[in-house]
Amino acid sequence: MNKITTNNTNYNRDHKTDWNELWKEAVNKLPKKNNSKSWDKIATQFAQWMKKDDYPQELLSKIQVESGDTVLDIGCGNGVITIPLAQKAISVTAMDISINMIELLRDNAANHNLSNIKFINKGIEDVKAGEIGYHDVVVASRSLNGIADIKPELEKINKIAQKYVYITLWGVDNRKFESKMAELLGRKSYQHPDYTIVYNLLHEMGIQANVEFLKSNTRNYYSNIDEALDRIKWRIGDLNEEEESLIKEHLQTTLTKNPDGSLSYSRNNSKWVLIWWEKSN
Ligand SMILES: C[S@@+](CC[C@H](N)C(=O)[O-])C[C@H]1O[C@@H](n2cnc3c(N)ncnc32)[C@H](O)[C@@H]1O
Repeated sequence: MNKITTNNTNYNRDHKTDWNELWKEAVNKLPKKNNSKSWDKIATQFAQWMKKDDYPQELLSKIQVESGDTVLDIGCGNGVITIPLAQKAISVTAMDISINMIELLRDNAANHNLSNIKFINKGIEDVKAGEIGYHDVVVASRSLNGIADIKPELEKINKIAQKYVYITLWGVDNRKFESKMAELLGRKSYQHPDYTIVYNLLHEMGIQANVEFLKSNTRNYYSNIDEALDRIKWRIGDLNEEEESLIKEHLQTTLTKNPDGSLSYSRNNSKWVLIWWEKSN
């Protein structure tokens, strides 16, 4: 019997695999923080982190968008992807479960004199394809990872898109850093669901997707030690006083001080997985 092991689950090739169920199981094992409250809480800090993140440029270099295109950006966050897309496309519909993220994007759009962005403060699960309407390009950058029942959302996205769909998911081994921290604290570590589950699910839906790995400096640069600590708390959960000093001590010995005063962590760059396809109507 041909047995395959993914990060999260075992399955047999001889049996028909329910990819959506596999993804659901894996997502349901994660800490429950993909909700509007958590994203609202972290929105301002997230916007700060993004200033030092080269992921947006990496992703934007892959997105094919023309001046007459309409774009749907699912999980727009504070707009690091939305703003450059709105500067290229005719219009962008920006959707997010977090009102604080939407407000940050609204300010960001005003600062860039952009008036072609429509804001929707909802989750993709809470809207029907017909309500949103067709869009040439659909982008879901780092925003679908926490959706357990992902198949209906992928079907919806595919229906909405007229030209291209771009989704980024957690990459392989992108929790090495967090695993080290969890080990120091004697906490159990976990892995993110494997992107190949979504790839296979799409394949089953008749979608032949392309897969690319995006390298970025996500999580590598911090302005100061407290920022590093905040980011770690977001990744591994709250820390008590004792744990906080243990992690701080570890960071003080492992972070490198850069000439501009920022701190960086010398580890491999994190990888995001870009799954994209051209829509065949
Ligand atoms: C990691 S941030 C990514 C923001 C931006 N797309 C980027 O790549 O920088 C994830 C964003 O997706 C939003 N989000 C999470 N689940 C969502 C859902 N089901 N529907 C819409 N937005 C969602 C969160 O509120 C958050 O703003």
